[in-house]
Amino acid sequence: MAQELETALLGAVGAGPVESGEFAATHNVPHLQLVGLLKSLQASDMVTMEDLDHSRTVLTAEAQGYLGVGSPEAQVFAAVPAEGISLAEIKKQLGAAGDVGFKQAMQSKWVAIDKSGGEPKVVRKVQAIQDRVLEVLTALAEGKESGVSDAELAALKKRKLIAVEQWKTYNVGRGPAWAPQRRKAATELTAEMLQKGTWREETFKEYNFNALGQLPAGGHLHPLLKLRTQFRKIFTQMGFEEMPTNNYVESSFWNFDALFQPQQHPARDAHDTFFLTKPAATPASNFPQDYLQRVKETHQHGGYGSIGYGYDWKTAEAEKNLLRTHTTAVSSRMLYRLAQEGFRPAKYFSIDRVFRNEAIDRTHLAEFHQIEGVVCDYGLTLSDLIGALAQFFDRLGLKKLRFKPAFNPYTEPSMEIFSYSEQLEKWIEVGNSGMFRPEMLRPMGLPEGVNVIAWGLGLERPTMILYSIDNIRDLFGHKVSLSMVKKNPVCRLGL
Ligand code: PHE
Repeated sequence: MAQELETALLGAVGAGPVESGEFAATHNVPHLQLVGLLKSLQASDMVTMEDLDHSRTVLTAEAQGYLGVGSPEAQVFAAVPAEGISLAEIKKQLGAAGDVGFKQAMQSKWVAIDKSGGEPKVVRKVQAIQDRVLEVLTALAEGKESGVSDAELAALKKRKLIAVEQWKTYNVGRGPAWAPQRRKAATELTAEMLQKGTWREETFKEYNFNALGQLPAGGHLHPLLKLRTQFRKIFTQMGFEEMPTNNYVESSFWNFDALFQPQQHPARDAHDTFFLTKPAATPASNFPQDYLQRVKETHQHGGYGSIGYGYDWKTAEAEKNLLRTHTTAVSSRMLYRLAQEGFRPAKYFSIDRVFRNEAIDRTHLAEFHQIEGVVCDYGLTLSDLIGALAQFFDRLGLKKLRFKPAFNPYTEPSMEIFSYSEQLEKWIEVGNSGMFRPEMLRPMGLPEGVNVIAWGLGLERPTMILYSIDNIRDLFGHKVSLSMVKKNPVCRLGL
């Protein structure tokens, strides 16, 4: 039915403008229903709509009751015999019409009250009357408004015998997208449309770019992010600046060679490092040429009091791209830059992701986060390093520290950091540290007498201890439970 009406309407509109009121009448549908259809066709540009305002005078229910009977005043006049009648009798005969009719008949001076006989009586004042009110109401009921004066209309309106009804219809025309049949617009481009080429004929529903997406119920910080914020706070409170750590892909040059890590070092093995295949290398022309020469020279023959490694340093090895294995790669870039900009004492830190090609188990992942602190100044000693570590770890709540001599290719001396755990009743390793070697710093151009102390630790281990998570896979990666992320408590250090 609705479909037929739509087809009939589109057909009619195709032939010429359509007046909606007429159309609804000829198709025997309520105008309101037709308007619903018109609006939806207009929304898809198939028809245009132009407002047509109408008004009409209609009789009220009271007035309808007088048709064929007479106006109440005429009824009252007719009820009055030559000898007169009491008002009570009129009201008894005519009911409610008697009441209004009497007032109107008095006003028109058709009747009068005669008190000469003692009892007041209603008597005729004229011989005959013309029931103009009935004539007008009858004419209006037949839709003939032309012979009726404005004054008459106003009087009837005041007596609530007539009312003005207003309504709207539409002049409906062909819209730019008019067609004899409506086609449902497609909401999505499908693989099938592409394969069959039917997308060419398809009409697509427009996107609503103003629609708002569904609001997420809430955001939650991962424990690693919470702890990272705490570490950032500690570093910034100690006056450290954050280093830019936004490059996960690094060249071997900055990750290893700049750090005086020999090219045969086992850490450079593919078992420990993820090398990139695309792009496999950073052309050596990207490295500062004079610096590259000094690095090569130092690896091969030493300098600055060192005898070097005595091997044949290969540019091709330094060009190899990898996923950085430690954030010390960032520190090496920063120290080089500091030397180029003209040295000033500086304190840097970084907290970001690193990658190692490790077998995954409950304490190891192939990617994790490192926290690194670096201090550069004239005349720094091992005591400065120990002092800085004591301050740093004290803010974490780790007050008892011990240091164990260790080895890093780029630091001398090097120390592993241990902290006593009251909970576990034993010393646990919490980090690694050292003083960068002159073989690393001098080729960069850092002035004679400048020392750099540095330390590094993982972010995962302390987070696991703090949040009592004993399997790293429950902390990071695809096995993480979202409810853990939602429910984990605030991070409080130093308690
Ligand atoms: N880069 C070292 C590591 O990967 C940590 C470290 C940083 C050691 C700075 C000494 C100085 O473990």
